[in-house]
Amino acid sequence: MANVAIDGVVQEAQPDELLIDLINRSGVSLPHVCYHPQLGPVQTCDTCMVEVNGRTVRACATIVAEGMSISTKSAKASAAQVEAFDRILSNHMLYCTVCDNNNGNCTVHNTTKLLAIEHQRIPFQSKPYEVDNTNPFYRYDPDQCILCGRCVEACQNVEVNETLSINWEDPNPRVLWDGGSTIGESSCVSCGHCVTVCPCNALMEKTMLGHAGFLTSLKKSALSGMIDVVKGVEPETGYGSILQVSEAEEAMREHRIRKTKTVCTYCGVGCSFDVWTKDRHILKVAPEHGPANGISTCVKGKFGWGHINSEDRLTTPLIREGDKFRQAGWDEGLSLVARRLSEIKANDGPDSLAFISSSKCTNEESYLMQKLARAVIGTNNVDNCSRYCQSPATQGLFRTVGYGGDSGSISDMEKADLVLIIGSNTAESHPVIATRVKSSHKLDGQKLIVSDLREHEMARRADLFLHPKPGTDLFWLNAISRYLLDNNLAHTKFLDQWVNGLDDYRKSLEPFTMEAASRISGVPEETLKAVAHMIADAKAMCILWAMGVTQHTQGSDTSTAISNLLLVTGNYMRPGTGAYPLRGHNNVQGASDHGSMPNMLPGYQSVNDPEVRQRFEADWKVKLPSTKGLDNHQMVEAIHAGNLKAMYLIGEEMSIVDSNANYVGDAFAKLDFFVVQDIFFSNTCRYADVVLPGAPSLEKEGTFTSTERRIQRLYQVLEPLEGCKPDWKITQGIANQLGAGWHYQHPSEVMDEIASLTPMFAGVNYERLAGYKSLQWPVAADGTDEPLLYIKRFAFPDGKARLFPVSWIGPTDQPDSEFDLHLNNGRLLEHFHEGNLTYRTEGIREKTPDTFVEVSPELAEERGIQSGTWVQLVSRYGQVRVRALVTDRVHGMELYMPMNSVESPVNRLTSSHTDPVTNTPAYKETSVHMKVLAEVGESPLPRINSRFGHPTPQNGVEVERKWKRADYAPPGNGLVQLQTKQ
Ligand code: SF4
Ligand code: SF4
Ligand code: SF4
Ligand code: FES
Repeated sequence: MANVAIDGVVQEAQPDELLIDLINRSGVSLPHVCYHPQLGPVQTCDTCMVEVNGRTVRACATIVAEGMSISTKSAKASAAQVEAFDRILSNHMLYCTVCDNNNGNCTVHNTTKLLAIEHQRIPFQSKPYEVDNTNPFYRYDPDQCILCGRCVEACQNVEVNETLSINWEDPNPRVLWDGGSTIGESSCVSCGHCVTVCPCNALMEKTMLGHAGFLTSLKKSALSGMIDVVKGVEPETGYGSILQVSEAEEAMREHRIRKTKTVCTYCGVGCSFDVWTKDRHILKVAPEHGPANGISTCVKGKFGWGHINSEDRLTTPLIREGDKFRQAGWDEGLSLVARRLSEIKANDGPDSLAFISSSKCTNEESYLMQKLARAVIGTNNVDNCSRYCQSPATQGLFRTVGYGGDSGSISDMEKADLVLIIGSNTAESHPVIATRVKSSHKLDGQKLIVSDLREHEMARRADLFLHPKPGTDLFWLNAISRYLLDNNLAHTKFLDQWVNGLDDYRKSLEPFTMEAASRISGVPEETLKAVAHMIADAKAMCILWAMGVTQHTQGSDTSTAISNLLLVTGNYMRPGTGAYPLRGHNNVQGASDHGSMPNMLPGYQSVNDPEVRQRFEADWKVKLPSTKGLDNHQMVEAIHAGNLKAMYLIGEEMSIVDSNANYVGDAFAKLDFFVVQDIFFSNTCRYADVVLPGAPSLEKEGTFTSTERRIQRLYQVLEPLEGCKPDWKITQGIANQLGAGWHYQHPSEVMDEIASLTPMFAGVNYERLAGYKSLQWPVAADGTDEPLLYIKRFAFPDGKARLFPVSWIGPTDQPDSEFDLHLNNGRLLEHFHEGNLTYRTEGIREKTPDTFVEVSPELAEERGIQSGTWVQLVSRYGQVRVRALVTDRVHGMELYMPMNSVESPVNRLTSSHTDPVTNTPAYKETSVHMKVLAEVGESPLPRINSRFGHPTPQNGVEVERKWKRADYAPPGNGLVQLQTKQ
């Protein structure tokens, strides 16, 4: 602690605290335009000048030291602040009353007021550049740009897309995309970081323009006229009275613009933000306070909300009549569902019915779905789509450390000094997590090793990139563990104290020599040894993995091998360490956590355990089934075998996203009765007997659990579209038609019930989750949560972890002379899965209109393929027609096909092979034959896709270049640079 005096009042500063943070914390009003706590000091605006012990310094770049005497209002400081802000206003026209950014949070407006600026000394000067409207989501107006560089800092060092810079040496500096491209043709991934942090209206969401203000929708000519009027009266009246008018207009906006906190509906990162709405119009997504993301989002969370007001939302229940559907009322729809489920249960028993929860729905909805299955119908046939992705990772962690979730938080990934990413295209599938790794790697010396088939962005950034043969990760991981143990590079103290099973594990590693690993994986021995030494040298390592590991026949075993390696090297129990299987959907973690699993009641309590069952039976007042039910994969098999007759499925496009899609579709066609609940008429709805219109995340309350086990509340942003209902209400309606007598009025009551029955969530309630508060499970009854697991013990009875031996089997469906190419598949940044949600956002469609198959340059040359050539991919299970994209992201005989298509889904090609431990499909083990068709079309990725851009990496805004300009002099007299923090 340091004691300092601010304007004569003594304050206590934190060690290493920035002066500006202390000043803000102590409630003193100091102008500051370029400083943003999540960006750190940018030092471009000079408005935060203060006097420290008689010298003028920037408060944002000065670290507090004992005994400082700070004046924020001395004549010298005030003169410097005003002069600096005067320079800013020469770059910005104040027309607040007719500006869509006049919402109370405009830094330029508020600073004008704070400094009581009445007139400009330096007149406004227009810049010789056009407004850039070429991005579908936001626009840049150079004339309003104050050159603060916040956007550049955010793009370069937070998002680390490295698109933006400022040409400080130019007579008329401006923000540049890729050094001078249009936004539309640049490498910009439309993540929105820059727009979010812009302190004025230079960068604005297009959804705000003409919509936020009362007068801003006027025609451009009328607007210009009004701006001229304002400028005309300014010399006489000064800014004071003009600002009064604009503040009256701003106050009126407060009554019609709603700002509601929600959690992103797409991936498992768990970004949260305020959604600004005017009636049903989404004005913007404003991230700032989210514990997982702060100011960060990706394009989907920031701009991908076109599905909410899409014209093709389902708004009424549909009932099949022959080959057609007819509209029906809710009473008719729900009573038909209840009648048919009852009849089938009566005729064929409860286990002839099955239930599939949605990973897009809330925890409370998942809980009610499994309660309906178990307590009302009497079956454990309930599952969710974690079966397709995450179950193997969960299994690997259950086997070794006890909890089936990420062992720490995103902040641990930032702190690690080595991150190892295996089978995860993190920059596209978990973009905001990728930003944290990219930033630590770029700025803090973090090392990065990536193992993947594709040379994606993280691979290109890596210090070491491995490209093992498909499906061989288990082998090289085990070989590294063996090498570390054999060469005294393991963490023996940790193993002695905290880990069981070392002897058996060592024996199991016998076949896994470096020589064998190199032969099997194709990775040179020296590279594997280099990986081993980087791991041994790292003080704290995190391993991140995803579907490239789990969607293999040995997905569970490979996940286990990862956790074993972390144990061998002592990389658990400390900040910056641990296992991070990156969860795919926004609530895939929560769907399993809350019991939508055939063998587990909520909180991973086994259905076999009589004590557990009795607890639930006492509360639910029913007898519960005790044998494990069918998982998703077994449900499809059971339909084909004639044992499963009816299914109720919520929000899963299972006929497209399940492996071997043709086989799954054929199964659905055989069901006696099929209920699908969704927000659109999905491909899966085509097989339904009844379709029920649910509500998307913005239209309901509840909680989601993200990849870091973080439970967060979403608040209702909009009323459900007329005719739709929140999914928990629909499930309750069906249960009550079946005589359940549920009376939940609000999801908070469901959460209270969950907490009362589930030790893992004992302390979870809506009060503790209010606003941006969150909890990372397990949560004790007193509300204590665990951002980092295993600090004191592992989650086994003796508190010790377990090394779990795994042996090598090898992948199925290997290429042969007929199916000679390996087909990999996965997500694209812009789309979520098949794209049912994201294709409904026009800008996303424009940038990324279709799926494609990536073909390596060498294979393209051999087969006479160019980008746009149509090819037919044929596997042992089906075929699709798709355009080729030639790219060096893939190598040799390996193809990659993103899954964003309903017309040509990659899962027509994938098989029914599964990981035997979890029944997760081996999506990534597919061999195909590629027939080149005569037709050549446009490239499937248009030129305006960010992948064609040319980033311009640099270290932030590089303000030193501004300071070197001949026309720059620090404002005020005698600016002194004290100890600064960049
Ligand atoms: S990538 Fe694009 S949207 Fe994201 S911060 Fe950079 S310029 Fe802005
Ligand atoms: S566009 Fe960038 S440099 Fe210009 S005002 Fe906005 S954040 Fe500052
Ligand atoms: S999709 Fe994922 S990374 Fe993107 S905003 Fe949503 S939660 Fe964040
Ligand atoms: S806030 Fe801009 S230089 Fe300090």
